Amino acid sequence: MFEVKNIEPEMTYSIRHSILRPHQSFEDCKYDTDFEKNTFHVGAFYQGRLISIASFCERKNIDFTSEKQYQLRAMATLEEYRKLGAGRAVVNYAESFLQREKIEILWCKGRTNVQKYYKRLGFITHGEVFDYPPIGPHIIMYKKINEGNIY
Ligand SMILES: CC(C)(COP(=O)(O)OP(=O)(O)OC[C@H]1O[C@@H](n2cnc3c(N)ncnc32)[C@H](O)[C@@H]1OP(=O)(O)O)[C@@H](O)C(=O)NCCC(=O)NCCS
Repeated sequence: MFEVKNIEPEMTYSIRHSILRPHQSFEDCKYDTDFEKNTFHVGAFYQGRLISIASFCERKNIDFTSEKQYQLRAMATLEEYRKLGAGRAVVNYAESFLQREKIEILWCKGRTNVQKYYKRLGFITHGEVFDYPPIGPHIIMYKKINEGNIY
């Protein structure tokens, strides 16, 4: 149903702005990790239109012992295309790549209101809910991508 592929960082900015940070500036939608060597960005397209995005950067969460960790950032699907599997398709695509790269853990700072989405994708919560200003309550969620120590 969707075409899923790697996209340029700049292609994520408009959806990030409209969905994830509507009350912040466009500049706030450009992340420090966007152009790092090992960062990649994935998009799902429906009839040629970019409708779902996520970014993946090599970042260690010190709560986990693994040296092979990636962080999922800025996950969003356009409202009119939700619950059709686009978000899952984006994350699955990235996971296949991370599996081949021998990454052990994919983690994110998930908004608490979409915890169920991440759970459906196999993510597990870790630790307590925390505030992530100016957006609101978040919780760390993670998923084992390959065998390896987590804690
Ligand atoms: C969260 C979000 C990315 C999900 O995208 P999506 O393309 O609708 O997700 P999918 O259709 O692939 O959903 C995968 C599964 O999760 C479920 N799901 C999706 N959103 C859900 C939600 N808000 N609550 C509960 N379950 C949800 C789907 O029903 C589907 O379930 P299934 O396993 O039974 O098929 C999208 O709702 C969004 O952009 N929300 C606003 C931005 C946001 O909060 N991003 C996350 C920041 S941490």
